[in-house]
Amino acid sequence: MGKDRRLWPLSHPVASTTLFFLISSVSFLQASAQSISTNTPVPPLQWINLTGLLTGPGPGPLKDASIGYDPAHQDLIIFGGESAQGIPQAQTYLLDLQTLTWSQPTAPDDTPAQSPPARSAAISGQDLAASYRNGHVVIGGRGNDGEPLNDTWEFDYTNHFWSQVKITTPGPSVFAAAGGNDPRTPFDATALSNFFFVAGGFTGEKATSLSNIWKLTIAGTLSSNLPNLTTGTWEQIHPNNQSLPAVGGSATAVVLQGSQQHVVAVGGCDTSTNSTAACAQGQPYVIDIDTSSNTAPANCPAPRIGASLAPNLNTASQSFDQQVFLLLGTFDSSQWQDDGGLDQGEVDVFNFNAGTWARILPAGDPVDGHPTFPSPREGAAVFSLGQPLVGSAAASDTIVFGGKDATGNYLSEVWVLRAYNGTISQSNATWSGFGNGQLQGGPSANGQGVTIQYMSSCASAISQPSGTGSSSGHSPTSSSKPPSPTNTGQPIPVSRFDTSTVHKSLAPVSAALILPA
Ligand SMILES: *[C@@H]1O[C@H](CO)[C@@H](O)[C@H](O)[C@H]1NC(C)=O
Ligand SMILES: *[C@@H]1O[C@H](CO)[C@@H](O)[C@H](O)[C@H]1NC(C)=O
Ligand SMILES: *[C@@H]1O[C@H](CO)[C@@H](O)[C@H](O)[C@H]1NC(C)=O
Ligand SMILES: *[C@@H]1O[C@H](CO)[C@@H](O)[C@H](O)[C@H]1NC(C)=O
Ligand SMILES: *[C@@H]1O[C@H](CO)[C@@H](O)[C@H](O)[C@H]1NC(C)=O
Ligand SMILES: *[C@@H]1O[C@H](CO)[C@@H](O)[C@H](O)[C@H]1NC(C)=O
Ligand SMILES: *[C@@H]1O[C@H](CO)[C@@H](O)[C@H](O)[C@H]1NC(C)=O
Repeated sequence: MGKDRRLWPLSHPVASTTLFFLISSVSFLQASAQSISTNTPVPPLQWINLTGLLTGPGPGPLKDASIGYDPAHQDLIIFGGESAQGIPQAQTYLLDLQTLTWSQPTAPDDTPAQSPPARSAAISGQDLAASYRNGHVVIGGRGNDGEPLNDTWEFDYTNHFWSQVKITTPGPSVFAAAGGNDPRTPFDATALSNFFFVAGGFTGEKATSLSNIWKLTIAGTLSSNLPNLTTGTWEQIHPNNQSLPAVGGSATAVVLQGSQQHVVAVGGCDTSTNSTAACAQGQPYVIDIDTSSNTAPANCPAPRIGASLAPNLNTASQSFDQQVFLLLGTFDSSQWQDDGGLDQGEVDVFNFNAGTWARILPAGDPVDGHPTFPSPREGAAVFSLGQPLVGSAAASDTIVFGGKDATGNYLSEVWVLRAYNGTISQSNATWSGFGNGQLQGGPSANGQGVTIQYMSSCASAISQPSGTGSSSGHSPTSSSKPPSPTNTGQPIPVSRFDTSTVHKSLAPVSAALILPA
């Protein structure tokens, strides 16, 4: 929505007739102002449903869980998350990706019997530091009382116990922040440290500015005989732009490109934490940590709630290291037209250097000859590796766990978004691994038959019925606030989810239009 404000700074009185013209044409103008690429090179992408292949005592349905990966044992870790009852959880699960078996780890007797308090929407990341530490780091998050936490924990991948990181300088208390770390970032062998970023997020009822960026440096030793010797130091990073918007609940990733760290945050929510349905902005922000600069390119996909972001770790093309994949989430179909993309597993490829978007429809997982895709879902946990996480295809995998679908069902599904080692730059094109064109499914799918389609337009705002007449009672230039959309007298459209909150926050485009500049 901020985009509309920038595009339409009306600082002069406008006759209401002109205003009505602008209102009715704004969705068209906005759509044409956005750009979409239909020939950006992307890897051949395919969704694969692992859910039915998993055995063992796995987690129930969870949203906003913490996810990580132990490369030495090929274990996926799931910690915490919000249960279907809306309650933060504190369990730890491991999924052995070689046998596709879930288990609940038990700490050895000689290690401290402790684990992090329940939480969801934490920042997490990998801490692989040679023989010093091999673990999964969990930072902050939303605790049992709904309040933000500021503690940091690390799960030891080797001996399966949790240790609380001893923090020597105070840091932020937030949940649903942007940040994390890129697993490709080499650890600092001199200081024996790894670092993590946290930007923005909810400090309670309100979100805090993305300009509030913190760096946590973790050092020390984590092992079963030295379980309490991990330390953390917070320092504040000062970006050049100190007035980035307050955002929590963005789709987010920290991406290393060359030697530069970028925090990428797409969309999110700037108001209360109670109605996640209100988190419906689409604006991307890219913060280059090393130069302290930022960009705010135009959005193209429908603004999502609870979408996930994954770096493109495929190495088939050099340009892939500037790409992130925007996945899943839900959107308000009464406000946005997405041409059915999300229902067909749409993956949006965002080049965070160029600020450009491609909307890609990947291949699906064929069941009885029909491709299947993950349904739209909020708060799915994602982890990407530059190699296959299951099977042995020449590919890089992003694994996806849980979430809450558009009807409010919490999920425990596990999917893989596989990026085969190849390049496509045209709809339905074939590539070196296309083979005989017979699409395969399951973890051993090797790319045969996989192609993609480029969507040809950005999502567009649905113009609200404007013939209500009631808004003529508002003088757009004398009001210092956006008019309340509840008094426009518009019928409440049918929505895929809680319209009552979405409708309020996703005020019609016209509300932003008549904001004074
Ligand atoms: C994914 O697999 C699970 C388990 O077989 C199944 O219940 C679910 O419907 C599948 N999802 C889709 C979209 O096909
Ligand atoms: C966490 O918050 C408490 C209470 O505000 C404060 O005393 C403590 O220093 C904070 N710890 C960190 C690591 O920021
Ligand atoms: C580590 O910390 C835990 C919790 O404070 C404590 O119970 C345990 O004794 C400590 N272990 C060592 C080896 O210091
Ligand atoms: C800082 O970012 C905000 C939000 O994108 C933008 O409106 C503002 O112009 C930026 N300020 C500077 C000095 O770049
Ligand atoms: C959020 O929910 C809490 C508890 O249900 C309530 O006290 C608070 O007023 C709500 N805040 C908003 C902004 O709705
Ligand atoms: C992927 O493609 C790149 C470039 O063609 C090549 O160097 C690399 O070896 C390939 N990796 C795999 C696993 O096939
Ligand atoms: C690609 O193939 C699909 C399915 O066969 C078809 O519907 C679509 O029109 C094709 N697109 C292009 C650009 O050829």
